[in-house]
Amino acid sequence: MRAMRKIRVRLKDRSYDIVIGRGLLSSLGLFVKKLRIGRAAVVVTNKRVFKLYGKTVKKALEKSGVSVKFEMVPETERAKSLEIMAGLLGRISRYDRKRDLFLIALGGGVIGDLAGFTAATYKRGVPYIQIPTTLLAQVDSAIGGKTAVDLPLAKNLVGAFYQPRLVLSDVSILKSLPKRELKNGLAEIIKYGVIKDKALFFFIERNRKKILDGDASALEHIILSSSSIKRALVEKDELDKKGARAMLNYGHTLGHAIEAASAYSGRYNHGEAVAIGMIAAANIAIKMGVMKDARDAVRLYKLIASCGLPVKARGLSPDRIFSAQLCDKKHSGRDLKFILPIEIGKVRVVPRVPEAVIRSAITEMTRA
Ligand code: NAD
Ligand code: GLY
Repeated sequence: MRAMRKIRVRLKDRSYDIVIGRGLLSSLGLFVKKLRIGRAAVVVTNKRVFKLYGKTVKKALEKSGVSVKFEMVPETERAKSLEIMAGLLGRISRYDRKRDLFLIALGGGVIGDLAGFTAATYKRGVPYIQIPTTLLAQVDSAIGGKTAVDLPLAKNLVGAFYQPRLVLSDVSILKSLPKRELKNGLAEIIKYGVIKDKALFFFIERNRKKILDGDASALEHIILSSSSIKRALVEKDELDKKGARAMLNYGHTLGHAIEAASAYSGRYNHGEAVAIGMIAAANIAIKMGVMKDARDAVRLYKLIASCGLPVKARGLSPDRIFSAQLCDKKHSGRDLKFILPIEIGKVRVVPRVPEAVIRSAITEMTRA
């Protein structure tokens, strides 16, 4: 195992480490042994990830005396359903029989959210480990304990806050990730730069080619910076009630609306929609006088475009996007609340953005 970096998420008796490095997967058994969370692992994954990393995980766990059972779930968001979860719980309970059982989420955010919620509910909670295998999961979904499945009406409608016992972010795993998925995660990392860390933003500007080519040390740097920011916000606001964690939703109000207005068809994945949403929110910030220097918005636009992420949601209906954003959880009553950038590295919550300003940003966003 090469050098690794550790970030401690301090949440009293729910504290845990995020470990970031290369070639960590083959040492998984040692991490598990140290945690003393059990001797029987149920690894929730899908066929693609299993084919790539199943053998390494099995070998690493068995070497440390931990027995392993793999549970396959569908590859797409379809896995985050109550039906899939019920099947999973049934199979886990039949396998359990007084074993010292814990779960491992081996996959992207879909697997992490599903396995985390399964761990939160089985026997009112068993330990689980996050092994995020996408860039998005390493910098966002695996950290902070938000677990959930979807209902037909909306995503993530049934869930729980349930912290993992360890997040193992092995940068080597990202080698097999398709480029579109890498960019999906990169959009969230640009978001971290805008909300909290201009040095990170500048680093991505200077190193975007390396990052997109999968350079391990550039990736390690941005994963470490992003994970540290998320850690700090989660420590301040574990249950997303005090406002600190809401900052993470910069670009997401209109981003979610773009995903919904395109009926989650995959035309825009989450990161792509957030990229467009961040640009639109910067435009709103300029119109509202929150962002004083328009050159910051231009810089953001240029970075997003140069990372090969979309800057417009051409062809989508502005009315559908407007209606979809009205469902945003941050809005309260008739007040349309937005997280808006003041400059690169700083955002603030603006509680009442006028409808006309939002509509004008959406029109701009959908225009050719
Ligand atoms: P994903 O989990 O759907 O994974 C994307 C694709 O990449 C899948 O086809 C997967 O099989 C494949 N894949 C995963 N790892 C791979 C690897 N190393 N090599 C090759 N292929 C690999 O997508 P995602 O973007 O990671 O996660 C999206 C989900 O995360 C959504 O359900 C979203 O709601 C959730 N999410 C949750 C939080 C949270 O705080 N809990 C935050 C953000 C997003
Ligand atoms: N992904 C947003 C949060 O964890 O709060």
